[in-house]
Order: sequence, then structure tokens, then C-alpha cells
Amino acid sequence: MTAAEPAVDMAGVAKSFSGHRALEHVDLSIPTGTVLGLLGPNGAGKTTLVRILTTLLQPDAGHASVLGHDVVTESAQVRQHIGVSGQYAAVDVNLTGFENLWMVGRLYGLGRSGAAARARELLDQFRLSDVAERAVKTYSGGMTRRLDLAGALVARPRVVVLDEPTTGLDPRSRMDTWSLVRDLVSDGAAVLLTTQYLEEADQLADSIVVLNQGRVVERGTSDELKSRAGQECLEVSADIEHLDDLKDAMTLIGDGRPVVETHLCRARVSVRDRRADVSALLKLLEERDIPVLDLSLRRPTLDDVFLELTESAQTEGPSA
Ligand SMILES: Nc1ncnc2c1ncn2[C@@H]1O[C@H](COP(=O)(O)OP(=O)(O)OP(=O)(O)O)[C@@H](O)[C@H]1O
Ligand SMILES: [Mg+2]
Repeated sequence: MTAAEPAVDMAGVAKSFSGHRALEHVDLSIPTGTVLGLLGPNGAGKTTLVRILTTLLQPDAGHASVLGHDVVTESAQVRQHIGVSGQYAAVDVNLTGFENLWMVGRLYGLGRSGAAARARELLDQFRLSDVAERAVKTYSGGMTRRLDLAGALVARPRVVVLDEPTTGLDPRSRMDTWSLVRDLVSDGAAVLLTTQYLEEADQLADSIVVLNQGRVVERGTSDELKSRAGQECLEVSADIEHLDDLKDAMTLIGDGRPVVETHLCRARVSVRDRRADVSALLKLLEERDIPVLDLSLRRPTLDDVFLELTESAQTEGPSA
């Protein structure tokens, strides 16, 4: 691998499961010392991509490499350099936290005392020292998640793959994980992070790839994605019984189709001319006797970008 070569490189990667295309011609690369945020709705193909990169699954087509090693033909070298924390924790629940980490250290070739020292260090870093000698089956979900994450870092890997690392963590543990990812990156690791929390991608990712139904539908920095979504957004709340009428009115005024969040009794749409569009909408709502509970104008967030890009998957039902 040369200095200019990215730590992770994927080109044209495809994977199908009994005729269902989980990934279609996916390209991505992660330079050393950066975080790539992989976003996508349930079933988009994120875990499939993670499994290919970590050598657990072979692609049907395309190439993927980690630090210059091909994931298919040089899987042993890839595994040596990569740390993985999966969506489903890979810890042995009958062992203690210490034993789990110690075993991982031994698997990576550390000596008995070296593995023990590294396990203690990580247990401390992940605030698990107090429960180190307890069987993992007595841990809470968040503790198990943290232990799994610690396991990924035992061998100080140069490439770290985190599949939804903060799902199920409380806010403090989530922030701890974020600062840990920042430390990893400042030490020169390349990180692939999948997440459903767009704020997480916003905070951590140097670049973002959005997958939908196995295809890359958008890529760029968080700022680029937001500015591509571009326009200001008009957001209006109404009683549930007026939500359909509100959507109709917003369809007439806005630029593009409104996105309705039924559970929040809220609809939003992009607008081109804030003053004219807001007053036109208010007039229309007045005429149609639709009471407004709340109205705001704001710049697009990463959530807006995501909803817009992946809306087809939501309206067409599950892709699986
Ligand atoms: N081993 C498998 N056999 C058959 N289908 C599979 C298998 N693994 C994944 N799939 C299918 O491939 C698609 C992508 O799944 P994947 O787990 O990669 O999605 P994801 O983006 O990780 O979703 P989530 O956000 O729910 O974790 C889904 O339609 C899924 O049903
Ligand atoms: Mg997944």
C-alpha cells in the first residue's frame, strides 16, 4: 500500500441473496485518519457491506481491499488489521468481561500478561472495570455493547468497522463512544461507521455515503449533502384530523412533495421564496379552515436529506 492509497477501497461491489440484490455496484473509499459514515434505512445493505469488508461474506462482483489487501484472496491479512464491532454483539455471554477481552487478545497473538494488561486498560476506558469479573449474561444491553466495542479495539487496529455502535446506548455512553472514535481517528485509524442517528454522522463523519436499496444514492460531506438538499424548509404542525388537508395545501405551495411525519402530526416541504410562500400558505390554510399549531422555517438538516433520499423506500414499503 502506498501513502496515497486509501485505507479502505471498494469498487463495483455487488451481492445478491437468492435473487434479491442487497448491494449493487457500490464504490467507496476511506482515507487513513478519516471516518466514513454509512447511512441508509433498514435493509439498505449496510450490514451486508460491513460483512464483505470484514471477510465474513464474499461479494458476487467487484473488489474490496483493506490496507491494500484483497478481502477475498488475502482475508487473513485483512482480519489482522481490522477491528469490528457488529450490529449484533459478538461476545461470549458465559464468560466474564475480562475473559472475553483477554481471549480476543490471545487470538491476536498477545502473550498472557500482555492480553491481561490490554483487557484491563480497555475495561477501564469503557467504564466496565466494576463488572469485569461478572459473566456477561448479567450485563445490561449497553454494557454488552460497550464490551463488544472494546473487543474491536484490543489489537489496536488501523481500520475499525462499527456497525451501529451506539444503538441502545444511553446518552453518556454514546458521547463516550463518539470521543473514542475521535481518538481512534486522531491516532490515524480509518473508521467505517454505520448509524441510524444522523446527528452521529453529522458529528463524526468526514464523508457520508447514503445507501438505499443496495445502491449509493448520495455521497459527500455533511455540509455538501445539506446544501444540495439546499432550500429552506417550511414545517407545519396541525391536529391529526387536519394532516391530510395540510399536506394538500403544502403540496400547492411548496417546491416538491411534502414529507409527512404522522406520529409527530407534522409536515414539511422545501420552499423557494420564504416570505411569499409562508404568506401564501397561511392564506390557504385560513381559507380551508385548517388550524395551525406550529409553524417554522429552517435550514435543512441531515435528517431532511436522509428522508428525501430514502423516501421511496418508506412509501414503497419494506425492500426485503
Ligand atoms: N444472509 C442473508 N440471506 C438473505 N437475505 C439477506 C441476508 N443478509 C441480508 N439479507 C437481505 O439483504 C438486504 C440488506 O440487508 P442488511 O442487513 O445489509 O441491511 P442493513 O442496511 O444493515 O439494515 P438494518 O438497518 O436493518 O441493519 C435486506 O433485504 C436483507 O433482508
Ligand atoms: Mg444492519
